[in-house]
Amino acid sequence: MPHYTRMLILTLCTALAVVGLTTPALAKRAHHHHRSNGLSISMSSFGNLPASLGGTAIDRYTMRNSHGMSVSIITYGGIIQSLRVPDRNGHEDNVTLGFKDIEGYTSDAYIKSNPYFGALIGRYGNRIGGAMFTLDGVTYHLDANNNGNTLHGGFKGFDKQVWTADPFRTRNTVGLELTYTSADGEGGFPGTLPVTVVYSLGRDNQLRIDYKATTDKPTVVNLTNHAYWNLGGEGSGTIENHLLELDASHYTPVDSGLIPTGAIDPVAGTPFDFRSFHRIGDRIREMNQQLVFGRGYDHNWVLDAPSGSRLHTAARLLDPSSGRELTILTKEPGIQFYSGNFLDGTLYGTSGRQYRQGDGLALETQHFPDSPNKPNFPSTVLRPGQTYRTTTVYAFSTERGRGHSERRHGR
Ligand code: GLA
Repeated sequence: MPHYTRMLILTLCTALAVVGLTTPALAKRAHHHHRSNGLSISMSSFGNLPASLGGTAIDRYTMRNSHGMSVSIITYGGIIQSLRVPDRNGHEDNVTLGFKDIEGYTSDAYIKSNPYFGALIGRYGNRIGGAMFTLDGVTYHLDANNNGNTLHGGFKGFDKQVWTADPFRTRNTVGLELTYTSADGEGGFPGTLPVTVVYSLGRDNQLRIDYKATTDKPTVVNLTNHAYWNLGGEGSGTIENHLLELDASHYTPVDSGLIPTGAIDPVAGTPFDFRSFHRIGDRIREMNQQLVFGRGYDHNWVLDAPSGSRLHTAARLLDPSSGRELTILTKEPGIQFYSGNFLDGTLYGTSGRQYRQGDGLALETQHFPDSPNKPNFPSTVLRPGQTYRTTTVYAFSTERGRGHSERRHGR
């Protein structure tokens, strides 16, 4: 490439970077800028949606701290596109499954296998049986996008919407506020639902997600994020050697369509007992009807901590080879552990490597699946005048520094 061409490209890139950093949204909150705390947020273009999906320009915001953690969020689906953290030797890797460009998230292969990489999920995370529910005597018919059931909000859930982004800084965090208003009747759900999701990063290698929603008609709400983790780095192979601990003595068994039967069964004596660390691959091939239905783990665990306003530890995931550890704290009563069973090798991720079955796992904090049809499950009903609020924290540490994240969760 001739020298002047290279110079021109370099100048253009610099100009774009400067424009990115002085976008009006960032400037608007510039007065919140505190003296350097090692936290930053920048914006870049992530390309345009295909014309068939409206052609909208998609932005990517990257938050960084000075402890080797960076998180990139795109305005399409509020997707965590990349999340980099150091291993025990300080080597940074991207530990979440995704793609390097918007084409990856909108390709036919992606839509077909529909893994919801990193996305915000709503208005109802997980399944609603028979794609319908009755509330106050009115029966609502929803999108039947998963074997006659509704999964993750229907055909065009929150994961496929373009969110409005507003970056901000506080004294101890840098963050991105995302807003989206779900229309009355969207996917079949009643009520206009303005939703705010705030991602924030602190100096302590914790990514926090605060969810909020209100409604103008009685409805049901269950919001989560569908990040897939591979603490060895995305595209590095199976997660079967990861160790998992779930703070749950019970889980909700399912039928063949992965709809809970309504039972709340003890995990004791089953492959679902993760009350202490277990290697994920250890029991995944045991002869067990529930593992057959899920093609592995794809179940909701009932967290022991009383659900309510306080953050409690739900899960710990440890990769012995890299030493990376993820602790998940939540205010939700349940967590779906999905062992990436439907990843089928048709997708090539961020670093160009193929994602095969079990190459990533999801831990989705949530209310239980099919709660709108299960009166014995904690309620997901939201009424006008009420505010839905919940929080989940992904706290990263390394094995050597274990204990660090637990001590700090009470923010
Ligand atoms: C959730 C579901 C799984 C699967 C994934 C997306 O985790 O429980 O069955 O549909 O989403 O592939």
